Amino acid sequence: MTRKWWQDAVIYQVYLRSFNDSNNDGIGDLQGVIEKLPYIKSLGANTVWISPHYDSPMDDNGYDVRDFFKVSEDYGDLDDFKALLDSAHDQGIKIIIDLVLNHTSDEHPWFEAAKDPAHPKHEKYHDYYIWQPPKDMTDGVQTLPTNWRSWFGGPVWEYNALTHSYYLHIFSKKMPDLNWRNKNMIQDMMAMIQWWIDLGVDGFRVDASNHLEKNWDFPDAYPGYEHFSSLPKHHDYLKLLGEQLFFPNNLMTIGESGGASPKEALQYAGFDSKEFNMLIQFGHCWADIDDANHITPGKWAKGTINVPHIKQSLAHWINVFEDKGQNTLYWHNHDHPRVVSHYGSDTFKTHEISAKMLAYSLYLLPGTPIIYQGEEIGMTNVDYQQLNDFRDVEVYTEYANFIQLGATHEVAMQALRDRARDNARSPMQWDNTLHGGFSEYTPWMATNQNKDFINVRQQENDKNSILNTYRNLIALRKSEDLAFAKTQFYDLDHAQSFHYQSKGKYHTYVVISNFSDQTMVLNDLKITDDYTLYLSNTRAQERNVFKPYEARIYRKKH
Ligand code: NOJ
Repeated sequence: MTRKWWQDAVIYQVYLRSFNDSNNDGIGDLQGVIEKLPYIKSLGANTVWISPHYDSPMDDNGYDVRDFFKVSEDYGDLDDFKALLDSAHDQGIKIIIDLVLNHTSDEHPWFEAAKDPAHPKHEKYHDYYIWQPPKDMTDGVQTLPTNWRSWFGGPVWEYNALTHSYYLHIFSKKMPDLNWRNKNMIQDMMAMIQWWIDLGVDGFRVDASNHLEKNWDFPDAYPGYEHFSSLPKHHDYLKLLGEQLFFPNNLMTIGESGGASPKEALQYAGFDSKEFNMLIQFGHCWADIDDANHITPGKWAKGTINVPHIKQSLAHWINVFEDKGQNTLYWHNHDHPRVVSHYGSDTFKTHEISAKMLAYSLYLLPGTPIIYQGEEIGMTNVDYQQLNDFRDVEVYTEYANFIQLGATHEVAMQALRDRARDNARSPMQWDNTLHGGFSEYTPWMATNQNKDFINVRQQENDKNSILNTYRNLIALRKSEDLAFAKTQFYDLDHAQSFHYQSKGKYHTYVVISNFSDQTMVLNDLKITDDYTLYLSNTRAQERNVFKPYEARIYRKKH
């Protein structure tokens, strides 16, 4: 197969609200991204994915779209968007945007009409969403149509008095789910997608793409995710979009579709697929859940890191896509804790070394990297002390849930500081000035005080910084064509080591990381005498002894 442009891409993910505020109102914006394109280019990235830029009441920071054709006033206007496209294209950078297909805001005109029988367009739009009558119980009580749980906590149903029925929302109650069985809705969505393509976007990251179909029998099941996730029919919808819009326009399309089997992953994004060209999976993202914690349960329950699980998941996807599709590589996005706090260390002593270890461990593997803003300088989880320092809608439903389950305020706060999505959303740390160079005005969420020593400016000046490590690794990916490297993992079951071989164009590389805060002794290093040390994140070395988070890259010529 001839290579497509998106196979050589290095993607940088921008969370608009927190990246760079050009007009000093405390909120990141499109002009702010334009200002920083040279920085993004200096990393070696050539594609930028921006989080939703559409008009929105911002219940979920733009994933609740009110008007698909309008840019949020927080971020600028359509001229700013066009200027971003022009400026990026002039610098050889592609722009992909978030495409939110599963739901709209409850303030979207479709929903305004759908919920109100007196609205002149009610007939047309009512069926754009998913409605169910209350369930009648034998004792005469009326209750929710099902007991399904929303991804943000609480029920998936919200009552609408005007129609005496409930609408479905698998995320927040301000994000009603669309009915993909409605052909008119699909036509309207496709016209909207075409409009952005005509404007010149280079692709889409398709939000929540495996949730488009629901089980319309509405059986009770708790939490019930299997009734609104990965149901076979959602592929029909994606194929329609792929065949008619994505593939004819040579776009980069990345589907957010967790939980896929290998077969299904290839159906989404194999080289013969007509749905997407890449996938985002989360197999390696929560490798430390303590199932015994019933007070802050699920992803909130921080446990011991299962290193084999992380390696096995990465190895699994590399294997699934080898010669059959394009793998993606990322530590995390805006929905996860910061990787250095999560899988590395954010204490002063080991922060830098662990951030580099994480970079070595991932970025010599094959696939398309997606680097999340701030990862390249080792930004950490937030240091918030008050509940109202947090901004995410999910935080508030879940906090109430923890307290109900018996957590103390402090236990609940610690779960938030460890796991909340806000950890990845605090303002980008450009320098050590008052708000970290993000804005001159108080930011929409507080800047981490460690901006004084974790920031771009300081790392620019240090050739061994985390930032320059990222630059070097990305440059190496390009010169060695590592996006297509053949890889072999070793010691998959080893609880500390992260050990693999990657064959580049000119050299074979062996990465050996100590993925833990304990000393590691590894006797069987998979290197022969002709390997030399190419890069390491610490100086003093005994060949078989690795200090906490120590990582080395060896290489030899082919
Ligand atoms: C996935 C997005 O990444 C997340 O931020 C959002 O809340 C949900 N989809 C709902 O759109």
